[in-house]
Amino acid sequence: MKRYEEWADTVIEKIRRKMKWVSEKNKDKIPYRTDENGNYDDRSDLSKKWRIDDGLNWWTNGFWGGICWLMYQDTGEQRYAEIARVSERKMEQCFQDFYGLHHDVGFMFAPTAAADFVLTGNKEARRIAMHAATLLAGRFNPVGKFIRAWNDLEEDTRGWAIIDCMFNLSLLYWASEESRDPRFRQMAMMHADTVMKHFVRPDGSVCHVVEFDPETGEMLRSLGGQGYQEGSAWTRGQGWALYGFMISYLHTGKKEYLETAKRVADYCLAHIPENGIIPVDFDQPMEPAYEDSCGACVIAGGLLELAKHVQEEESYKPDGENYKPDGESHRTDAERYVADEKSEKYQEAAVRILRAIADNRADFGENCDAIVQNCSGAYHSPEHHFTMVYADYFFIEAIYKLKGTGRLLW
Ligand code: GLY
Repeated sequence: MKRYEEWADTVIEKIRRKMKWVSEKNKDKIPYRTDENGNYDDRSDLSKKWRIDDGLNWWTNGFWGGICWLMYQDTGEQRYAEIARVSERKMEQCFQDFYGLHHDVGFMFAPTAAADFVLTGNKEARRIAMHAATLLAGRFNPVGKFIRAWNDLEEDTRGWAIIDCMFNLSLLYWASEESRDPRFRQMAMMHADTVMKHFVRPDGSVCHVVEFDPETGEMLRSLGGQGYQEGSAWTRGQGWALYGFMISYLHTGKKEYLETAKRVADYCLAHIPENGIIPVDFDQPMEPAYEDSCGACVIAGGLLELAKHVQEEESYKPDGENYKPDGESHRTDAERYVADEKSEKYQEAAVRILRAIADNRADFGENCDAIVQNCSGAYHSPEHHFTMVYADYFFIEAIYKLKGTGRLLW
């Protein structure tokens, strides 16, 4: 990604300046979004009344620590590790509550405890991450071969799986790699295979929610979830699928995951607007023009990861339950040329999205704690265009990817 490095450097400078004071100001919090004055909230403030899946159990709570680990990797400053560990310690209390936890223990503990262990060797962090991975594995439905998403709050969700979970799988892959116990990876791969079969449509668009019969595993229906409607293409879901299948590919080498990521990416490429501003759903009406900068950053991250690997050989030989490259080059020059062109296209699309954010949807000033603006939770939510801590995470991560520095924390 050499040709974009200079631009990435200018954005990294702005990120460093901003995160220095933002991290200091919010060092004891676990933020999700900013208020009307630009100040971060605190999901770990237990004096407030939260729902059971909100507050300390809120699914985005790992991203604040995750941002700090990204900054730690970049700057080497110990203070970022210390701030990340404040949230890590607080989140450990979630294990006591237990009932508030859900499949997003992956989102919560992969960029915090697992990242801490991977980057520093902290044994306490390993214990926390292993605990979280074990809870996640406990949500596996062996007949339907899927990981159950949520707990029953307002309705019966025993058979529900959602596309976002493709990211939670990274905690399972890590747990197998770290413990040498293959069960975590086996469950992750079975879930990914189910998602390939039932979520990803032939044109590369993706369902948000699929309901299975929890007793027989039969697929019952798909739901529109946070997108415009059933059958549409919620953009953040496209991002979870594209980047999520890349994560599964990187951990297993299974060629079908790379192929699926490409199919989802090609759908995105055909629908990304010229100005790089991403709507909440690729199928939404022109008006109101709801945007989702968060989905934009997730898609950009997935495209950059795909661009790095699209040139790889596509000839893999199964090796037991794992898949490994056979090491031989089978490509003709013409095939290699096509792969290079494809990689370039994915990079260009990612950069178009990131430039649109950096130039028009980012606040690098001092009036708002968050960088990325104009995020939306769901198409049909009453509120749109606010900040989300995970948008900042994926924006910062994508810029480091473009620069070619930092270890992937998924
Ligand atoms: N459901 C997770 C998200 O908003 O992306």
